[in-house]
Amino acid sequence: MSTFEIVPGKIVKDLLDTSAAAVVDVVEDTYRRHDEGRTVNPDSYFLRFPAKPEARIIALPAVVELAEETVAGIKWISSFPGNVAQGRPRASAVLVLNDYETGYPMALLEAAEISAVRTAASAAVAARALARSIPGDGRLAVIGAGVIARTILRYLTVVGHRIDELLVFDLDPGSAAHLTRYAKDHLALPARAAASLAEALTAGTVVTATTAATPYIDRPLEPGQVALNISLRDFRPEVILAGQNYLDDVEHCLKADTSPHLAEKLSGGRAFVTGTLADVLAGRSVPDPASGVVFSPFGLGVLDLAVGRFVLAAAQRQGLAVEVPDFFGETRRW
Ligand SMILES: NC(=O)c1ccc[n+]([C@@H]2O[C@H](COP(=O)([O-])OP(=O)(O)OC[C@H]3O[C@@H](n4cnc5c(N)ncnc54)[C@H](O)[C@@H]3O)[C@@H](O)[C@H]2O)c1
Repeated sequence: MSTFEIVPGKIVKDLLDTSAAAVVDVVEDTYRRHDEGRTVNPDSYFLRFPAKPEARIIALPAVVELAEETVAGIKWISSFPGNVAQGRPRASAVLVLNDYETGYPMALLEAAEISAVRTAASAAVAARALARSIPGDGRLAVIGAGVIARTILRYLTVVGHRIDELLVFDLDPGSAAHLTRYAKDHLALPARAAASLAEALTAGTVVTATTAATPYIDRPLEPGQVALNISLRDFRPEVILAGQNYLDDVEHCLKADTSPHLAEKLSGGRAFVTGTLADVLAGRSVPDPASGVVFSPFGLGVLDLAVGRFVLAAAQRQGLAVEVPDFFGETRRW
């Protein structure tokens, strides 16, 4: 393998804009493969900056046995919350895919959209699986109105999640207004800004997609209420301990001061972990409508690889992957 291709963000975005249902299938399939031990997904590495404590760049290396081929690689994703004040997205990323035979890098993809859609697809796969035993009340609240929230809303509509009323809450009213308008204009959802956080927390399904670093929600979930805890640090550990908890991967999620990690520290154990999303998908665990349910996905690098491989294959089929001639300086040892 001595070719190297680049897939620019505009092409990635165009391909993903018309592939949401397929991405949901890729992500659900990858969760099953992870559960079957067909992946290696080491801990993410967080690069932090003493002079910019709010910013980070995270490395997510992984390998996954896909149906077509095994693919290895790494996502390198920045989170600079200060970008938002300039109107720029918080996150930016690249994904390197490596050939499993030779180890050679084979492609570089712009990956902010890949990361957003794999996150949104995780939420949608979980919402669909949980709704089989907990149908919800048709009211959806989104707390935190940024790029991730927007992508999750799109993916919830793709899996047919029931949304009779959408409440949007953000500390920044401008962001709440943007997402409310997007939901009405692009997704035809009956959306409005929530009057308060307290009002948002009454919805049957609550999605958190904020940049909160320290948990602040102390209202316990009601029976039959589902929280998609995407930003991971909004719910106080007491709320987590009082609910049923499904994680994407237990070892990953109980790290980095996520709400489940704080719940582990507070309770001194993991008895509060009900199971994984794969347990629900496989029918090994059935959520009980008698108490609230929290789904917490740490975000697995294997999902980025699987979605990235899907995008690269689509770009290659359509002649849209840009080959870099002579990318490798030496292709013969002697
Ligand atoms: N679990 C995963 O797999 C995964 C993957 C990707 C991103 N994320 C997380 O999703 C979150 C959102 O990402 P984004 O790119 O949309 O960010 P963003 O900066 O575009 O939007 C976040 C929004 O949250 C709002 N906010 C911050 N604190 C709040 C609070 N306490 N209450 C209400 N609103 C609040 C901000 O005003 C902002 O509008 C980030 O925390 C990111 O780390 C999780």
